[in-house]
Amino acid sequence: MTDSTNFLANVPIFSDLDKETLEKVLKSGMLQSYKKNSVVLSEEEAGSALFVIVEGKLKVSRSSGDEKEVILAMLNESDFFGEMSLLDGDARSATVTAIEDSKLFVIQRTEFLDLLMKYPEVSIALLTELTKRFRASSAKIKALSLKDAEGKVATVMLQLADDIGKIRQGIVEIDHLPYQQELANMAGTSRETISRTLHSFAKKGLIELDGSRLRIIDYEKFKEMFE
Ligand code: CMP
Repeated sequence: MTDSTNFLANVPIFSDLDKETLEKVLKSGMLQSYKKNSVVLSEEEAGSALFVIVEGKLKVSRSSGDEKEVILAMLNESDFFGEMSLLDGDARSATVTAIEDSKLFVIQRTEFLDLLMKYPEVSIALLTELTKRFRASSAKIKALSLKDAEGKVATVMLQLADDIGKIRQGIVEIDHLPYQQELANMAGTSRETISRTLHSFAKKGLIELDGSRLRIIDYEKFKEMFE
């Protein structure tokens, strides 16, 4: 395989496919580049393509009429999005925006459905990822409706650890923590609450903050405390 095809082997929904099949998948789609801050797809529009992130970082968000935004998830390399409209034919459920210059691999509906029918391992991997997202959404509903400010912020930290964190010897490192306003939009709280709660977590020795780098010192303990 050439270098440009290697990325597909690292995408969980395609990682069980052999090299020959990966070559076919590669031929069934195309690469597209998006500049930082560009909207890849918008809530409510019709859609029929699936996107796989080759490089970059994107946010999945929804907004209300008064321009308030809630961030549902952060996606990075090897994640995919756009599967919902593709599967149920309904409008896009959220807006996806590049928060860094990003390179995406785009597959159209017919080609993707063909892959799902031919390769059950792709279908199972897709269901596994959708189940993971459903669990994360359910954790968020619990946090938004039942938890206090600490619980809401901790739930966002756990979501980010899962989405973009790296775990090493029980410590989770999140290299590029989103801006505090973005964290507030994820947690359904204010920027001031984010700032106050992160400092309180740091004081208690639960996290370390260094610029935009955040470390959860004992990930298992943190999960036990807040899940
Ligand atoms: P689709 O509805 O086609 O377009 C928006 C995409 O955002 C959607 O497919 C999913 O891929 C993604 N998305 C929507 N909601 C969530 C969520 N809660 N977590 C992660 N990704 C999501």
